[in-house]
Amino acid sequence: MYTDLWASNASGLATHIAHVGLAETADLLVIAPATADTLARLAGGFASDLLAITALAARCPMVIAPAMDGGMYEHAATQENIEKLTQRGATIIEPEAGRFASGLTGRGRLPETTTLIGAIRLALGKRGKLAGKRVVITAGGTREAIDPVRYIGNRSSGKQGYALAQAALDAGAEVTLISSVQLPTPHGADLVSVESTREMLDAVLTACADADALIMAAAVADFRPQTAAAQKIKKTEANADGFSLSLERTEDILEAVKAARQQTGFPRIVVGFAAESENLLANARAKLERKGVDLLVANDITASDAGFSVDTNRVTLLTKEGDERLDLMSKAQAAEIVMGRVATLLG
Ligand code: CTP
Repeated sequence: MYTDLWASNASGLATHIAHVGLAETADLLVIAPATADTLARLAGGFASDLLAITALAARCPMVIAPAMDGGMYEHAATQENIEKLTQRGATIIEPEAGRFASGLTGRGRLPETTTLIGAIRLALGKRGKLAGKRVVITAGGTREAIDPVRYIGNRSSGKQGYALAQAALDAGAEVTLISSVQLPTPHGADLVSVESTREMLDAVLTACADADALIMAAAVADFRPQTAAAQKIKKTEANADGFSLSLERTEDILEAVKAARQQTGFPRIVVGFAAESENLLANARAKLERKGVDLLVANDITASDAGFSVDTNRVTLLTKEGDERLDLMSKAQAAEIVMGRVATLLG
């Protein structure tokens, strides 16, 4: 921790002048919370304390989270200072509205730590391997309606898909996340909520029209009820002994993407997932070819520490060139490796 403008280089700074040392070595300068006074000093270019002078000396990106009580945030002076800082390239994390320590309500509350971290990750990723690339990711299991109350679903939690979205953002990509589950949206992702395979298909084809990569991590239903009842199916005399539900095949999204890609060339790279309960490698390799994907991420869903719901995964990456079996790791780590492969494929 540094509080002194003239701190020595005892802790290994690049120079004995603290503010220069701190500014030179930083990848990102985060000011959270930033008071109205701090914003004014930054906007005015004052060099009155260690924070303001470090901000002046820094050449790295800056993330600022304004937080203040009462009407200070809305005040024209504060808004002008924020405008100036934005024009100079700073990222401003907008404060939230709510009740202040004073008892007043209004905008000015510091957002939750997860929001701050999300904004910091986004700013750090701007110069990442996927900067300027558009990546579409699907997550979760689709739901096929039986009636307004019931559906056919599956055990997919969406965790791997959300981890992929976060990894893509970390690498600087612009991310569209098409999801059928409700997990916290990674900061900066454009979320499209869907439920059925049909809805997911439409969302994927729309989002992929100019996308660099599609990652189909969703567990898409293969069958749906031929007709969904308009009203709740009630227990009656007629179904006292049960009733049968006729199912039909759903659309195969990856096959529709393959056809669209042949016409338009987009998405440039497609990654599929394979959930297998037997003959993992043989089934996955057949899927790689059938679905026309550049990379297939295969996992054995019978393992208790990998696949559905858990936070870890053990995947094998398959391409035309060969297989790579990865050890057990967190879904976040697996996502980072997959996005690294996507970046390589995109060149
Ligand atoms: N997938 C898809 N559309 C479907 C079903 C699956 O696009 N209707 C995608 C999945 O998102 C995944 C890949 O295809 O990326 C493989 O999914 P998986 O369920 O493992 O395979 P299936 O296509 O269902 O084939 P099988 O019945 O042989 O397991």
